[in-house]
Amino acid sequence: MKILGIETSCDETAAAVVEVKGDQKDAGFLVLSNIVSSQIPLHKKYGGVYPELAARAHLEKIVPVIKEALRQAHTSLEEIDLIAVTHGPGLIGSLLVGVNIAKTIAYLLRKPIVPVNHLEGHLYSPFAKQNEPLSISPSLFPALGLVVSGGHTELFLIKEPGRYQLLGRTRDDAVGEAFDKVAKMVGLGYPGGPAIEKEALKKAYQKINFRLPRPMIKSQSLDFSFAGLKTAVLYSIQHFSDERLKKVRPLIAAEFQQSIAEVLSAKLLKATENFRVTSIILGGGVIANKTIQQTLKRRISRLSPHLPLFIPDPQFCTDNAAMIAIAGYIHWLKKGASQWYDVFADANAEVA
Ligand code: KG4
Ligand code: ZN
Repeated sequence: MKILGIETSCDETAAAVVEVKGDQKDAGFLVLSNIVSSQIPLHKKYGGVYPELAARAHLEKIVPVIKEALRQAHTSLEEIDLIAVTHGPGLIGSLLVGVNIAKTIAYLLRKPIVPVNHLEGHLYSPFAKQNEPLSISPSLFPALGLVVSGGHTELFLIKEPGRYQLLGRTRDDAVGEAFDKVAKMVGLGYPGGPAIEKEALKKAYQKINFRLPRPMIKSQSLDFSFAGLKTAVLYSIQHFSDERLKKVRPLIAAEFQQSIAEVLSAKLLKATENFRVTSIILGGGVIANKTIQQTLKRRISRLSPHLPLFIPDPQFCTDNAAMIAIAGYIHWLKKGASQWYDVFADANAEVA
């Protein structure tokens, strides 16, 4: 079975062809092609995604991106068995581009189609593999699933593939959003995540005692809050000259990342105390951060050594369509396919 995934929820125009391997209930996935056309250069000068420009760029790129995904997978549209498209959450103008092209293909070629929740895509991103498939075995569930991206910080109990309970979410900023805003504040580029990660590896030319809070780390709630952390950075640096800021910036970057890594691991560990789970699944752009990955791995393996931790390969942490194809397969197994006229974009779609 071959699935065409289409993703246009934010600022990446993406298409992928994924082949299902193995038994239906124990399937693995081979990514035959994974095309992502990033709009980062377009939005850079605004320091964030400009929705109208994003939608126009999707319109321009979507057909060439799908064509290239099919070409690299040596697959024709006729050979596609299922179309999976992100229907939300996201920017409505952006979502409409992907949803409408997916519906058009489904209508013209009479193909089954499934609407996919973008967050559900991130939850299956560790199973997107380009060489050796990794099966989504029933023994991995119930699992904890944490999505840490530019738009979302949400912790789920995945009871089984396709069945979720939301355990906690950010009450204000998403982690990626905090990265982007703090990067802007300290004069680093967009997107902020990779820029802060790089800065943290540099040598600081002036040592200062710089400590940031670990928001909600002791709270019993599994919710998160990152707006205060961002404000703490702002207050700490407001009397710094540009020159001084530059000299201490690597320390700020490292402490900021450390705070986030500690909060995320504390919440995951708290959730493992409250719920019996057999694995932990991570996804989202921020999970590409190596320091955050290492802290999570270290802390989880120390306190729950038998709990396997699934982390996406770097190219599948940030937005892509391979993860949408896989989540589409899970959706199809559980609920079947839709008719093209029943698929709609929904900017505020919730994981159900
Ligand atoms: O998952 P994603 O591509 O899009 C959303 O669904 O939001 O995540 C994008 C976010 C951006 O905020 C970006 O700054 C952050 O992920 N990000 C990172 C890293 N790479 C991307 N954050 C921290 N460290 C990174 N290496
Ligand atoms: Zn995303």
